[in-house]
Amino acid sequence: MSYQVNMSVKPEVKAFFDPATNTISYVVKDPASRACAVVDSVMDIDYAAGRITYDNADEIIAYIRENDLQLEWIIETHVHADHLSAAPYIQDKLGGKIGIGDQIMVVQDTFGKVFNEGTEFQRDGSQFDALFRDGDSYDIGTMRALALYTPGHTPACMTHVIGDAAFVGDTLFMPDGGSARADFPGGDAATLYESIQKILTLPDEMRLFMCHDYGPDGREIQWETTVGEERENNIHVGGGKSQEEFVRFRTERDATLDVPKLIIPSLQVNMRAGEVPTDEDGRPMLKVPVNAL
Ligand SMILES: [Fe+2]
Repeated sequence: MSYQVNMSVKPEVKAFFDPATNTISYVVKDPASRACAVVDSVMDIDYAAGRITYDNADEIIAYIRENDLQLEWIIETHVHADHLSAAPYIQDKLGGKIGIGDQIMVVQDTFGKVFNEGTEFQRDGSQFDALFRDGDSYDIGTMRALALYTPGHTPACMTHVIGDAAFVGDTLFMPDGGSARADFPGGDAATLYESIQKILTLPDEMRLFMCHDYGPDGREIQWETTVGEERENNIHVGGGKSQEEFVRFRTERDATLDVPKLIIPSLQVNMRAGEVPTDEDGRPMLKVPVNAL
């Protein structure tokens, strides 16, 4: 499948870094109108206390209001396991449609079982306003955005290409960070390699924006690189590393990684498009399945 990209469209990208989860959220603005999109927003949680707050999301909302922007889309690159999405909170304040990859249904099916959700939990993606398939396009003002299916880290991962900027979610990290883990249910290292290759076929000068950075070896947090940089220098896939090499390395590394601290609340919220589940009395309530993950 060949995809149409338009490098002459150069969206204005504003990044928001959340130090609690090392997540980077973005506001992507059309240079030719007031339209914008939010990518991968964060809702704050103090998990020990069961307390949810919105400092991160409020900062994004304030930025959009101060700059008089019109929010058209709230994009999730995938169902995150390390932070909670603030998509519904932002939508409530500013409007916009919440979109994710249509393979969300696979994720909902898997974790609907893990969390023993009842039949009221729909596994058809209907909590979201839009479900993207590979190659689908949508508009942000005058810009045409393109959703590319890039699974491997999770089954529902997509990369969003907007003009000369691509939001890669957790498929790639900065060149010195490599790639994300592929050992979650439905994840697969060989598939992740193929998805990364798909991103690396985009034009060399394409700007790439990461969802996470952990500042390896004490360097400052960074989130922006290019396709050319990644192809040459990415420590896991750069310089033409083979799929076999990648899979061996990725599998060995993943076996050493801890479970993400916020995986239990994150999955329950994010598979509902960012809504906190409620109990039979309608109170917000999270579960902890024992020895199930
Ligand atoms: Fe992730």
